[in-house]
Formats: sequence, C-alpha cells, structure tokens
Amino acid sequence: MLRARITGTGSAVPEHVLTNYDLEKLVDTNDEWITTRTGIKERRIAAAGEYTSTFATLAARRALAMAGISPEELDLIILGTVTPDFPFPATACIVQHELGAKHAVAFDLSAACSGFIYGLNMAEAQIRSGMAKKVLVLGAEVLSRVVDFSDRNTCILFGDGSGAVVLEADNGDRGILSTHIFSNGSHWGLLYQPGPGSRNPASVAATIDDKLYYLRMEGNDVFKHAVRAMGDAAVAALEANQIHADQLALLIPHQANRRIIEATGKRIGLPEEKVFVNLHKYGNTSSASIPIALDEANHEGRLKSGDLVLLDAFGGGFTYGSALIKW
Ligand code: ACO
Repeated sequence: MLRARITGTGSAVPEHVLTNYDLEKLVDTNDEWITTRTGIKERRIAAAGEYTSTFATLAARRALAMAGISPEELDLIILGTVTPDFPFPATACIVQHELGAKHAVAFDLSAACSGFIYGLNMAEAQIRSGMAKKVLVLGAEVLSRVVDFSDRNTCILFGDGSGAVVLEADNGDRGILSTHIFSNGSHWGLLYQPGPGSRNPASVAATIDDKLYYLRMEGNDVFKHAVRAMGDAAVAALEANQIHADQLALLIPHQANRRIIEATGKRIGLPEEKVFVNLHKYGNTSSASIPIALDEANHEGRLKSGDLVLLDAFGGGFTYGSALIKW
C-alpha cells in the first residue's frame, strides 16, 4: 500500500529569547504565575527583518537536507500559518522561490494551531492517490507581530518559529497510518484576529484605532474546548487503527499549555515520559509547534524505526486533529 513517509524533519526559531522575567517588565505578571498556569518559561521572538518565510525557508532547507533530496524534486509545498508574510501571495510561494523548488505547487493553509496536522492530511491524500510523490509540509508563524504586548492574558503565551517535514511516497509499512481532522466553526469568536481583513480593512481608521490587528482570545473557554477536542482527536486515531495507548512510543501534542497537554495524556492513559513537551522553551508557536517538537524529538533520538507516534492539535476555528505515524 502506498504510504506517505516522513523522510526529513527540520526547524528554525529566532535567536532572540524573551523570558518570563522580561515579560514582568512589560505587564503585571510574574514567572511563577506563567510557569504554573502554562508551563512556559521563555519564547523566541523574530527580529526586525525576519518574517514567517525566513524561518520556514530555513526549516525547509534542514528537512530537505535530512531527506537527501533537492528542492527541484518537490511536487508540492503546503504551509500552515495564520501570520503569513502578506495577505497574498501565499508565503508558501515565497518559500518555493527561496528554495528554488520550481516544480512544486505551493499554497498556504489556514487552520491556526492545527495547520500542520491539516497539512499532513492533505499531503497524505495527494501521495496516496499518486498525485504527488514528494511533499514539503510546514508550520510557520511570527505571532509576535499580532500579539498585544500590553495584554497579559495573551502576550505570555505565544512565540515565533517554524518546523517542516518532507514526505515521500513509500511502498513499505512505515509512514502516516491515518489522519483525522475536524472543524467546529460555532466558536470562531473565542480565538481570532479581527483585522485586517474584509470585515475590518486596514483602510478604515477604526481597525488601527481599536487595535483590531491584535489576536483576541477567551483563554478560559478555549482551554476547556482544547482539552476535550485534543482528547477526542487522540481517541479517534487510536480507535481507527485499533491500537491501545500502551503501543504508542510518543505523543507529540500541540504545545499551548502544559495543563492541556497533561489532560490529553491522561485521557488516553499515557504516562508522562511518553508525552513530548518543549513549550517551556518556545511557548505556543501555533502551526509550528508540532513540527518543531517533532524535529527536536527526532534529533534527540526519541523516534526509532517502527515506533508509533501520535500527533495531536487544537486551534482557532475551532480546528483540531491527529495523525498516527509508524516512524
Ligand atoms: N499574569 C498574572 N495574572 C494573570 C495573567 C498573567 N499573565 N493572565 C491572567 N491573569 C489573571 C486573570 O486576570 C485572573 O485574575 P482574576 O481572577 O483576578 O480575574 C486570573 O489570573 C485567572 O485567569 P484565567 O484566565 O482564569 O486563568 P487560567 O487558569 O484560565 O489561565 C490561560 C489562562 C493560561 C490563558 C489559559 O486559560 C489557557 O492556557 N487557555 C488556553 C489557551 C490556549 O491554549 N490557546 C491556544 C489554543 S489554540 C492556539 O494555540 C491558537
């Protein structure tokens, strides 16, 4: 059976580190509150002149190098982001140009923190159907440009960076076993960026005056939905593949909040040591969080050939989903 197998991973984050202590100087917060409520200690922030495409291109080059393929071999580039370089063209097209991936079709995908899982789903379908053979899937964000650093409810949570994987068609039994993606638009207003867009264009003064360009979140409500949805998505993957959590080598969840991650692990009965966590270093990097974590787990030697690895995400929309991979 034709499968989509991950043959390379890569990631890239900005140099600049913003710690909880740095945030204490900006808003009324403290390291103890942020650590106990979220698990985050620091996050990376893009410098002037660094964009979403900057980190995406670097992550992509690293993933391609690990896979040992040239950019010209790529058929498709799918980039999950909610902080593109521009409203259009797609940041994926800029990455395509930077890489010299001249045979690849390139587009962005907007599914917030689930963008990478949605991208895997699209890549899997393209590869299984024979429409594409080599696909680059990325999550890339510069969330610091849409975060209000005077709002303690949100500015402590987010960070910048990108992660990428190369997927190739493979006739063996390794690769993506299944993807499950879901959307629930009835709560879109709990986590969103009001402008600029067709509702609140940048050309209207209120968009600037009312700071509609900053993301807005009802943290408490989002938290409850995230716990339930990430649990549901994980269970969907296990049930569809008729496997028990005992058989998983690792769960790599979206890195939004340590308490959400712990609740997801508990829901499927997975011990803490089988749940990958790196949000203390990067905060919530939205679509980039899972591929950055996947790349770190890979470099740390935590992914062995034949291991079952579960990816699980939740984000604005709401969107959520999981991917089960035989490494
Ligand atoms: N420092 C100190 N106090 C704070 C801070 C802060 N940075 N932020 C809020 N508080 C205060 C609040 O004002 C409130 O005070 P009050 O009781 O006097 O009103 C108190 O702390 C508790 O606030 P809550 O919002 O109830 O705190 P909660 O435990 O829910 O934690 C948090 C807030 C961390 C935002 C949590 O709700 C959360 O993680 N939500 C999910 C967010 C998330 O995961 N979003 C992303 C998923 S989708 C995506 O990734 C895009």
